[in-house]
Amino acid sequence: MARPSSSTASTRAAEVPQASVELEAVTKVYGSGPTAVRALAGVDLRIEEGAFVAIMGASGSGKSTAMNIIGFFQSPTAGAYRFMGVDGSRLGRRQRTLLRRHFLGFVFQGFNLLARTTALENVELPLIYRGTAPAERRRLGLAALEKVGLAGREHHTSAELSGGRQQRMAIARAIVSEPALLLADEPSGNLDSRTSLEVMALLGGLNRDRGTADAGRGDQACTPGHQPQCSSRVPDHARHRHRRGCRDRPGDYR
Ligand SMILES: Nc1ncnc2c1ncn2[C@@H]1O[C@H](COP(=O)(O)OP(=O)(O)O)[C@@H](O)[C@H]1O
Ligand SMILES: [Mg+2]
Repeated sequence: MARPSSSTASTRAAEVPQASVELEAVTKVYGSGPTAVRALAGVDLRIEEGAFVAIMGASGSGKSTAMNIIGFFQSPTAGAYRFMGVDGSRLGRRQRTLLRRHFLGFVFQGFNLLARTTALENVELPLIYRGTAPAERRRLGLAALEKVGLAGREHHTSAELSGGRQQRMAIARAIVSEPALLLADEPSGNLDSRTSLEVMALLGGLNRDRGTADAGRGDQACTPGHQPQCSSRVPDHARHRHRRGCRDRPGDYR
């Protein structure tokens, strides 16, 4: 299988920024024997703090597989994956779950929203897993909905919202816990071209806002797939300061 190519819009600061994500010669093989599928074949990828990155490639080239490895849903068959300096192969199941909960936000392909549940309930879900108190959940949930332009729609169910608004709701759910890394798998794949541009602009804006307000913690990676109108939206503005000495690191959850 072809490797997904990567492009990063981040600009190197004078000091070398720390990598959030480092894949080194990562190979992923599904199955075994004659039916084995080599989804990734020796991929090297480095995503620095604050970067906004698109993983590009044709359908079947291994983009989702790469995202699943970066998000600790799958392990590489061979090669190394380090997240914020922590070697993924040393983490057990429970540690991976905690790491996902505390450091990562996901926008899944096809939204994965609960259809008959309100926007606010959907967005609060990651905070329930984190054990956040109800009043604080509500405050953070409303703030996340506002950030994605869904203020006033907190009581709508996802079934009542358009595709673009559902995607915004999925993004709000992914950012509500202020993740260090936001992963979005083909975030505009199911949307018309105008809506997909809006969604990419929203992701770029969130990255930029985090980059200045909270330098070094606003990383985002997304896979717009092979849609040129989306790749052109990966901004070239991303110029981030590297913040030293983040208080909590994934290693704290070992
Ligand atoms: N769970 C799986 N079991 C077997 N093959 C898989 C599995 N997931 C993906 N593949 C195969 O791995 C290759 C890469 O898939 P994927 O990572 O989904 O690519 P993309 O997201 O770029 O479309 C494809 O050939 C796909 O059929
Ligand atoms: Mg995919």
